[in-house]
Amino acid sequence: MTGCFITLEGPEGAGKSTNREFLAERLRERGIDVLLTREPGGTPLAERIRELLLAPSDEPMASDTELLLVFAARAQHLDQVIRPAMARGTVVLCDRFTDATYAYQGGGRGLAKQRIEQLESFVQGDLRPDLTLIFDLPVDIGLSRAAARGRLDRFEQEGLGFFEAVRNAYLERARQAPTRYQVIDAGQPLAAVQRDLQALLPQILERLRG
Ligand SMILES: Nc1ncnc2c1ncn2[C@@H]1O[C@H](COP(=O)(O)OP(=O)(O)OP(=O)(O)O)[C@@H](O)[C@H]1O
Ligand SMILES: [Mg+2]
Repeated sequence: MTGCFITLEGPEGAGKSTNREFLAERLRERGIDVLLTREPGGTPLAERIRELLLAPSDEPMASDTELLLVFAARAQHLDQVIRPAMARGTVVLCDRFTDATYAYQGGGRGLAKQRIEQLESFVQGDLRPDLTLIFDLPVDIGLSRAAARGRLDRFEQEGLGFFEAVRNAYLERARQAPTRYQVIDAGQPLAAVQRDLQALLPQILERLRG
C-alpha cells in the first residue's frame, strides 16, 4: 500500500482548515482512513519550529533562515507522520506543504525557485503530493477573514504586495502542472466552495483507487 497525499494550499483565511474537515468527512463516510495534519508543524518538534516561524520578533528573520526552518520542520513531519501514514495506506490531508514554500518564500520573499527545488529534493526525495487543492481568493478578502480572528502572526503582518506575490506564485504553479492541481474559487460563500469540492470528489476517489 502506498496511501495518497493530498495537500490544501492558499493564503490566510482562504478556508483550508474549514474545508479540510469537510473533505475528511466525505472520505471517512466512505470508509476511507484519513489523517489530518498541517505545516509548518504536524509533530511536537515541528510545531515548535512553527512557533519560531510565526512569532513576530524584533530581530528580523533572514529569508534563508525562514526557508531552512520550513524545511527542517518538514523533514521532521515527513519522518514522523507523513511517510509512516503513507506506508500504512492512509490518505494524508495536509494543510499547506511545499507549494506554500514556493508561494511564500519564493513568491513572497523573492527567493530563487532553484534553491527551493534543491531543498525539496534533499528533504523529500521524490515524494510529491498526489493532488493539491489551491484555495484561491482576492488578497483583501483573505486578509480580512484572517484579521477577524485577532492578533496577526509574522506573515499576516506583511503588506498587500507580499500576498499578491503569494497568490500569483500559487496560480503559476497550478498553470504549469494542471493535472496535479485543482484551483478552487474560495472567494465564494462557503456553501458554494463546498459544492465545488463535492463535485471534485469523484475525481479524488478515482486517484485514491489509482
Ligand atoms: N467561503 C467562505 N466564506 C466566508 N467565510 C469563510 C469561508 N471559508 C472560510 N471562512 C471563514 O474564514 C475564516 C478562515 O477560514 P480557515 O481558518 O478555514 O482559513 P485557512 O485557510 O485555514 O486560514 P489560515 O491559513 O490562516 O489557517 C474562518 O473564520 C472561516 O469560518
Ligand atoms: Mg488554517
